Amino acid sequence: MKIGIAGLGRMGAAIAERLLKLGHEVTVWNRTVAKTKPLADAGAKVAATPAEVTSNSELVMTILTDAAAIDAMYRGKDGLLEGAVIGKLFVEMSTVRPETERALEKSVRAKGAYMIDCPVGGTVGPARDGKLLGFAGGSELDVARARPVLDQLCRRVNHVGVVGAGAAMKLAINLPLSVYWQAFGEALALCQPLGIDPAKLMEIFSDTSGGPNVLKGRGPSLALALTGTPPNPVTFDVDSIRKDLRTMIEEGKSLGRDMPLTMRALECYDEASRDGIGPADAVMVTARWVNLKK
Ligand SMILES: NC(=O)c1ccc[n+]([C@@H]2O[C@H](COP(=O)([O-])OP(=O)(O)OC[C@H]3O[C@@H](n4cnc5c(N)ncnc54)[C@H](OP(=O)(O)O)[C@@H]3O)[C@@H](O)[C@H]2O)c1
Repeated sequence: MKIGIAGLGRMGAAIAERLLKLGHEVTVWNRTVAKTKPLADAGAKVAATPAEVTSNSELVMTILTDAAAIDAMYRGKDGLLEGAVIGKLFVEMSTVRPETERALEKSVRAKGAYMIDCPVGGTVGPARDGKLLGFAGGSELDVARARPVLDQLCRRVNHVGVVGAGAAMKLAINLPLSVYWQAFGEALALCQPLGIDPAKLMEIFSDTSGGPNVLKGRGPSLALALTGTPPNPVTFDVDSIRKDLRTMIEEGKSLGRDMPLTMRALECYDEASRDGIGPADAVMVTARWVNLKK
């Protein structure tokens, strides 16, 4: 299939790599041109503009930083919606507020094209291996149209409602996870005096109710971080979690919901970022807290 990927950040690049390996004809574009090189070497066509990505593709995927990035990519000069757009299907996968996806759908529909949102759980490794978890929002017809490609990227695609529903689910799922990294730092501080080897600690926690699913994948990285080796390359950074937490709080407010724990978690992440670990991997929030001595 002719697939466009506009935005080659960590996730966009991993998704493009996977789709190329599966034999799709992939056209890419990225604001920072240097990031297109590895994909071009792997066989992707590099478009001169986002509009050209649309013109070259049947289906276009985006996974970008935030609402401002989506606006620039779709509605900016030579943006995706300036290409040969009629009848095309857009799959927007960023972690943003549902209203961002709903407003984008209006813009897409006004141009005679179709859109679903499908944010994903999982990080760079699962994206490369086709093991993400997708949360799709859109009409039955549009989700069915995207499904063959989504099934190649995800181990499971959940159709959770109309456009925007995927974004709502993704924010909800990331909330306890984001709070967890700080909570786990506080938990590990309690057992630090025991002097247990970090790898052993991860193994124990993973097998208890104090360890969520994520520990099975990220426990080894955290064990290394606790012994002074931060994860490299970074898969999901602290500043991106701050963006997610701010987005959750905005969404909660718009629904008339109080979010005391989420707000406190954001303060902890802000403090960690001020301490210089904004670009570091999420597990560094936990490691920083354990090693923070009064
Ligand atoms: N990393 C993960 O593990 C993970 C997992 C699931 C979901 N997510 C979500 O997926 C999205 C992307 O995450 P990521 O980790 O791949 O982020 P990233 O590596 O920082 O990449 C962000 C992408 O957005 C582009 N971008 C930002 N502002 C732009 C603008 N104004 N105009 C055009 N392009 C712009 C960047 O272009 P440049 O390269 O030019 O900066 C880059 O291609 C986020 O919403 C994140 O919350 C991430």
